[in-house]
Amino acid sequence: MGKSKLTKRDGFGSKIGVLAAATGSAIGLGNIWKFPYILGENGGGAFLVVYLICIALIGMPLLLSEFIIGRRGKLNPIGSFNKLSPGKPWWIIGLFSIASAFIILSYYIVIAGWVFAYIYRSLTGNLFNVACNEIGSYFDNITSAVGEPIFWAFIVLLLTALIIIGGVKNGIEKYSKLLMPILLIILIILMIHSLSLPGSLKGLSFMFNPDFSKLTSKSILTALGHAFFSLSVGMGTMITYGSYISKRENLPKMAVQVSILDTLIALMSGIVIFPTVFAFGLEPTSGPRLIFITLPIVFQSMQFGEFFETLFFLLIGIAALTSTISILEVIIAFITETYNASRKKAIKISVSIIFLISIPCSLSYGLMKHVTFLGKTFFDILDFTSSNLLLPIGGLFISIFVGFAMKKRDVIDECTNRGRIRIGWLSLFMLCIRIIAPVAIIIVLINGLN
Ligand code: TRP
Repeated sequence: MGKSKLTKRDGFGSKIGVLAAATGSAIGLGNIWKFPYILGENGGGAFLVVYLICIALIGMPLLLSEFIIGRRGKLNPIGSFNKLSPGKPWWIIGLFSIASAFIILSYYIVIAGWVFAYIYRSLTGNLFNVACNEIGSYFDNITSAVGEPIFWAFIVLLLTALIIIGGVKNGIEKYSKLLMPILLIILIILMIHSLSLPGSLKGLSFMFNPDFSKLTSKSILTALGHAFFSLSVGMGTMITYGSYISKRENLPKMAVQVSILDTLIALMSGIVIFPTVFAFGLEPTSGPRLIFITLPIVFQSMQFGEFFETLFFLLIGIAALTSTISILEVIIAFITETYNASRKKAIKISVSIIFLISIPCSLSYGLMKHVTFLGKTFFDILDFTSSNLLLPIGGLFISIFVGFAMKKRDVIDECTNRGRIRIGWLSLFMLCIRIIAPVAIIIVLINGLN
C-alpha cells in the first residue's frame, strides 16, 4: 500500500492502445442504445443536425480540454485541478465528477444488465424464437422482474471490476484494443442488411431529412446532454484517461479521431435501427425499449440471424464494458491517489456503493414503477440529472478552466507538444472553449430546464 507514489505511474503503452481505450470509453450504450431512441423521440433529422453541431463545436473541444487537463495534471480530476490551480476552488468540479461517476454507473449497469440478459437468452436459443409481435412483452417481462435484472447488473459490475483490477495497460488497454474493431465489423454487416430491407428508405429519410419544426428547447438540451454523454465528457473520464497518455501523443488529433469514430458508430447504429423500425411498422418513439424490441426482429429477418444475434448483443455488452471501466476508473484513480488505498480496496468500496444505488434503478421498471418524483422514476431522475445537468455544468466549468484559468502558454504547449507539432485550428479551438461552448451551454441549460 502506498507504493503507488514511488513506483512508475501506470499508463497507456501505445498509440493504438490509447485510441482504443478512449474510443472504447466513448462508444457504448450511448451510441447503440441511447442515440437511436432519443433520435426517435425527438423527431429524427433536425435533432441529428443539432447533435452534430453540439459534437463539433462543444463536445470535441471539451474532449480535447479534458485530455489537456489530465495530461498536464497527471492525476485524477480532483488532483489535477488542485495541481494546475492550487489554492483555488476548481477542485469542486472534480468533486462533481466523482459524484456523476457514481450516478451514471449506477444506472448504466442496469441497461448493460438487460443486454447481458439478452446475451444469455440468445445463447440458450430462447430469444430467437420469440414471435415478432411478442417481443415487446418479452422484454418487459425481463425488465420488470426483481431478481434477474439485478443479477445481471451485478455481473456487469463484477466484470468491470475484474478488468479494472488489471490496471491501465494490462486491463483497460488490452481489452479495448481487441474488442473495438470487432464491433465495427459487425455493425457494418448489420447496416448492409438493414439497408436491404424493403422500406428502408423511409427510415433513412426519418434520420436524415430535417424537419426543424419538430425541435423544442428540451430536445436541444437533450442533444447537448447526449453529445457530452456519448463523448464521455463533462465528468472527468477523459481527464483521468488523459493523465495516462504519454507526452508524445498528439492530443488534438486524438480528440478528433475519437469524436469522429464515436459519431460514426452512433450513425451506423441509427442506420441499423430505423430502416428496420419503418420496414416492420414499429414505433420510432418506443423509448429505452427501442433497440431491445427492434434488433431481435432484424435478426429474425436475416440469414444466420441467430448467430449474429448472439454476437451482436455480446458486442454491445463489450462496448458497454469498455465504457463502464472508464467511468469506474475515475473513482478508482481518485480513491487510490487521494487516500493511498490499494486498487483492490478502492474497487471493493466503490463497487458496493454503486451496486446499492443500482437496485432502485433496476426496480424502476418493475416494483418501483409508480414511485415517482415530478413524474420521473428513480432511474429517470439519475439519467436526467446526469446527462442534462451534471455533464453540461461540468463541461461549462471545464471549458472556462481551460479557456481562462489555465495559462494560455500551457494549453498551447499541450496541444502542440511544446511546439513540436503544428495544429491549424488552434485559434478555432480557443474560440470554442472560451466563448462558443460556455455561452451555448448556459443558453441551452436555461431554456431547456423550464
Ligand atoms: N460514452 C459512453 C457511452 O456512450 C458512456 C460513458 C463513459 C460516459 N464514460 C462516461 C458518459 C463519462 C458520461 C461521462 O455509452
